[in-house]
Amino acid sequence: MPDTPHTAPIDGPHHVAIIMDGNGRWAQARGRPRLFGHQAGARRVRDVVEACPGLGIKYLTVFAFSTENWKRTQAEVAGLMSLFKRYIIKETKTLAQNGIRVRFIGDRLRLDSKLVDLMDTLEEATKGNDLVHLTIALNYGGRDEVARATKRLALDVAEGRLRPEDVDEETLPKYLDTHVLPDPDLVIRTSGEARISNFLLWQSAYSEYEFIDTLWPDFTAEELERLCRSYGARDRRFGAIPA
Ligand code: FPP
Repeated sequence: MPDTPHTAPIDGPHHVAIIMDGNGRWAQARGRPRLFGHQAGARRVRDVVEACPGLGIKYLTVFAFSTENWKRTQAEVAGLMSLFKRYIIKETKTLAQNGIRVRFIGDRLRLDSKLVDLMDTLEEATKGNDLVHLTIALNYGGRDEVARATKRLALDVAEGRLRPEDVDEETLPKYLDTHVLPDPDLVIRTSGEARISNFLLWQSAYSEYEFIDTLWPDFTAEELERLCRSYGARDRRFGAIPA
């Protein structure tokens, strides 16, 4: 029987990265505080993770808090930090049982030690899993990541473990927070903004981008499936001429 478009297997992205934007506007439109939007956003993360195996997505990376987000009000920052803690406490068992391996990227030094302990515990509890690799970017900025990587690389040069003439495009990514991950194939940003806001700068050099109007708390597995199917129809050439 011929496959209908809906049931056709997806030749889609292996690694999807998402800038989850629009929580604040979603809440404001309902006359509710911004944190209400972030809570709804956290529930969408769960739905999207659950949809990944069926869509052939092996790696999912989500931007939860940027190095620039500290500029928000103290109340919103505190609310987000406490939401991250509650999310980890609530989801650890399910993620571990469902085959999800969780990693965090970003600079942990500015995060409170209780949150860092929870992050470590979640990484440890899921380290044997391989169904879907969920990476949560928390206090993450692409430029900050490259600067931290360069510092470590410079130290290796200074201490004789690396020769300057051996530094090339393959070397630097080994020092990035994402060193064990493949580059994202598809980067999605919700809420109508068409910019990348310091997300995965090095890694997304050849990624496809989708800027969609949906606010993050309204994003669904169906929309993700649509984006994966349209990704499968594209011809990625990585700078080469068409075959
Ligand atoms: C951007 O929307 C969203 C954030 C800064 C926070 C993202 C956090 C979540 C989706 C919730 C928790 C995630 C995990 C992994 C537990 P915005 O506030 O900038 O929205 P706006 O542009 O409408 O103001």
